[in-house]
Amino acid sequence: MLGNTEKGDDGRTAVILGSAERQMVLNEMRLLLETSRTIVEALANEDLAAVEAAARPIGSAAIATVDFSLRAKLPLEFKKLGFGTHYAMDDITDMAGQGQPVKAIQLKLAETMNNCIVCHATFQLPEMKNKQVVNSAGVF
Ligand code: HEC
Repeated sequence: MLGNTEKGDDGRTAVILGSAERQMVLNEMRLLLETSRTIVEALANEDLAAVEAAARPIGSAAIATVDFSLRAKLPLEFKKLGFGTHYAMDDITDMAGQGQPVKAIQLKLAETMNNCIVCHATFQLPEMKNKQVVNSAGVF
């Protein structure tokens, strides 16, 4: 429920992950940013096939790549916002596939990006360097 967290140095909640897990999450973040940019461009070009192709890989299929030990460390609110973002990408994929108006898809993307804002305002992923972390989730 609470995941593996502590109070962050800037008032946000710090989610404490192992170094490889942190890198995996940040990799996914960079992909989300790139995908959002691609969708914005494709919408401007009214290229719905390109919207669909960009959004599909980052939809709910991407959730399966989050392994269970990482899931256990993520607080519930983080998972809600994160999984919600993937489901919203499914919606964008479907809307593009159905040929819905560009404007409606744009609004859906804007709404989806509220998840980015809320999650970034709430959580941080501190780098733990070589410090050994011991807490409720054990030693890792
Ligand atoms: C479930 C929570 C969550 C959601 C949703 C989320 N992010 Fe993040 N993102 C984070 C956290 C936490 C960090 C690390 C921030 C920190 O440590 O200051 C991060 C970092 C990033 C980074 C920096 C990556 C790096 O290499 O350092 C980018 C870019 C990013 N997010 C883009 C996005 C975009 C774009 C979206 C929405 C489409 C998004 N994120 C949605 C939690 C989230």
